[in-house]
Amino acid sequence: MAYQEYKKFLAEVLVTEEQLKTRVAELGKKISEDYAGESLLLVCVLRGGVMFLTDLMRHLTIPHMVDFMALSSYGVGARQSTGTVRITMDLNMDIYGQNVLIVEDIVDSGHTMASLLEVLETRQPKTLKVCTLLDKATRREVDVQLDYVGFNIEDKFVFGYGLDLDEYYRDLPFVGVVDLNVYSPSDA
Ligand code: IMP
Ligand code: MG
Repeated sequence: MAYQEYKKFLAEVLVTEEQLKTRVAELGKKISEDYAGESLLLVCVLRGGVMFLTDLMRHLTIPHMVDFMALSSYGVGARQSTGTVRITMDLNMDIYGQNVLIVEDIVDSGHTMASLLEVLETRQPKTLKVCTLLDKATRREVDVQLDYVGFNIEDKFVFGYGLDLDEYYRDLPFVGVVDLNVYSPSDA
């Protein structure tokens, strides 16, 4: 679908800019406490996790590095995760012996995160944990341990704050719900 003014299909603002700011600050504080005295390697999943990553980093008071990975799921479309993910861009850094924290935008069926954890585990990090901004727990098909969760959300298609609709709208400062009667994401 061609780019349209988002107000045309915004059903509701699910998480406001204020709520995001407060929660991201809380997560940053908690993570800093949990890893006190350690250093951390944040592994950001492209592209949805970027906005969350950059805000979260500003609230970390411990030494940390960042690296990026891009994944794509095999199968019908980005929403129909099939259980196998392909690494389309791998990390630059060696995570062996590091405290690794995966930073992701949303966990839905859990397939993406489950395969990512499996891959990274084989590289023998010191610790491996997950921080996701959003959790659609009711959609889970495989069990994954999420160590830090920003918000538990209902099963609604969301966009903004890093999450895209056909690659646009990642810049919006809030998380909004798509009115699927007005806008049909091409991969939904
Ligand atoms: P999972 O493998 O089913 O957990 O899928 C996770 C991926 O699906 C996320 O990284 C997103 O790219 C995508 N996704 C799931 N729900 C949404 C949504 O509501 N809006 C945008 N992307 C979504
Ligand atoms: Mg993602």
